[in-house]
Amino acid sequence: MLHDTLHALLTELARISALPLERGETLPARAYTDEAFHRLEHDRVFRGDWLCVGHVDQVARPGDYLRTDAAGEPLVVTRDEDGHLHALSRVCRHRFMDILPPETAPEQGSLERLMCPYHTWTYRLNGEYAGQLAGAPMMSKVDFDRAACRLPRYRLEVWNGLLMVCAAPEAPPLAPQLTGLAERLAPYGLADLVVAYTDRWDGVPANWKVAFENGSENYHHMGTHAGTLDVLVPGKDTVVDESDGRWFSMYTPFAADAADAAGEDGAPMVGTLIPGLGARQLSGMTVAGVFPNLVMALLPDSVTFVRWVPTGPVTHDALVTVLVPAHAKRQPLFEAYVEASRRQFEVIQNEDLVAVRGVQRGLATDPAPSGGRFSHLERPLWQFQRYLAGRLTGAGSAA
Ligand code: FES
Ligand SMILES: [Fe+2]
Repeated sequence: MLHDTLHALLTELARISALPLERGETLPARAYTDEAFHRLEHDRVFRGDWLCVGHVDQVARPGDYLRTDAAGEPLVVTRDEDGHLHALSRVCRHRFMDILPPETAPEQGSLERLMCPYHTWTYRLNGEYAGQLAGAPMMSKVDFDRAACRLPRYRLEVWNGLLMVCAAPEAPPLAPQLTGLAERLAPYGLADLVVAYTDRWDGVPANWKVAFENGSENYHHMGTHAGTLDVLVPGKDTVVDESDGRWFSMYTPFAADAADAAGEDGAPMVGTLIPGLGARQLSGMTVAGVFPNLVMALLPDSVTFVRWVPTGPVTHDALVTVLVPAHAKRQPLFEAYVEASRRQFEVIQNEDLVAVRGVQRGLATDPAPSGGRFSHLERPLWQFQRYLAGRLTGAGSAA
C-alpha cells in the first residue's frame, strides 16, 4: 500500500491535472520535498522516459565518447567505427567502478576501446557488440562466463541533433511525439550547429521541478530579470503556443527599444547568425521544452539548451549547452563572443537561482503552504502537470 503522504499527493496531482488552464493551480508543495514522491519520479519519469544527454557534435567522429549521467546511472555515449551511436552504462561489471571517472578522464574525447581503470577489464565499442566484455586479465582460474558479461545498453535516438536516451524498453519512440515541435524548430537546423561551450551548476538546493518550471515560463522576466532579459524579451509580450502532449513552445519578439543594443538584422545578441533564419526567428526568441526536463532558448545566433537533473528530493544539477553555427568558430572574435556569452548567462542564471532557491524555501515551510494560481503565461507548467500525472498516476492527457 502506498505511503499515506504519497497517496494524498497523487490524488491531488490527478485532481489538478484535470483542471482547465483558466482554473489551473500549482502542484502541492510536498511534491517538491517528499522523498517517496521523488522515488516515484525517478522510477516512472527519469527511468521510464526519454532524456536529453547532449548534442551529436560532442560525438561527431568514430571513436568519440561523451560521459553523461541520466536516470541516476553513469552513462557513456560512443560512436563506433561505422558511425553508429551507443549509450552504455559506465558501471563496470566487475566491481562497479566508473569506467570513465571524472577524476582522471575528460568529459569527452576519443577511445579505441573502453577500459576500466580499476583492474583493466575492457569492453567492445563496435556495432551489436557494443558493451560486450573484450578482455579480463587473471580470470581464467575461476569459473567465469565472459560471453554473458556486458555493459547494459540504453536506447538512443538522435532528435534534431540532440542525443536522447531511454532506460525503458517499453517506452514509445520519441520522435513521433515531437513532430509539432520539430516543425517549429526546423529553421534553426539544430543538428548542424556545434557546441560553443558547456557550463554546469551542481548541487542547486531545490527540487528539479522548481528550476524546470522557472525555465518554462517568461512571466518571471518582469520580476527576476527586470533589468536584464525583460529589457530585450519582455515577458508580457510572450505568446505561448497552444500545443498538447509532451512539449511546449513560446515566442517573444525583441523589444523595439532594444534595437539600440542590437547587432545586424536587429539581433540583440552579438554573434554569428544561424544561416537561413526567417524574419520571425531574426526578430525574437523562441523558448521550447520537452518534458520532463529539457528547455531550449533559440536566438538568431545561438541555441542554448538546459537540463535539470535531480540528485535528491531537494537538490539538482543544472547543465547548460550552448550551440552556434559551425562557421562562428572560425570568426576572429569567437573566443571573445564565448566569454561575453558565458558572463551574460551567469548573470541570468544567478538571477534565476535567487528565485529557485527562494521558491524552495517557501515550499519547505511547515505546515505546507497551500497552492497558488497560474497566469495564462504559465500554460507550459499546466501542461507539465498533465504529463506528470500521466506518468505517475495514469491520469491526465499526456502519453
Ligand atoms: S571494477 Fe572494473 S575492472 Fe575491476
Ligand atoms: Fe529566468
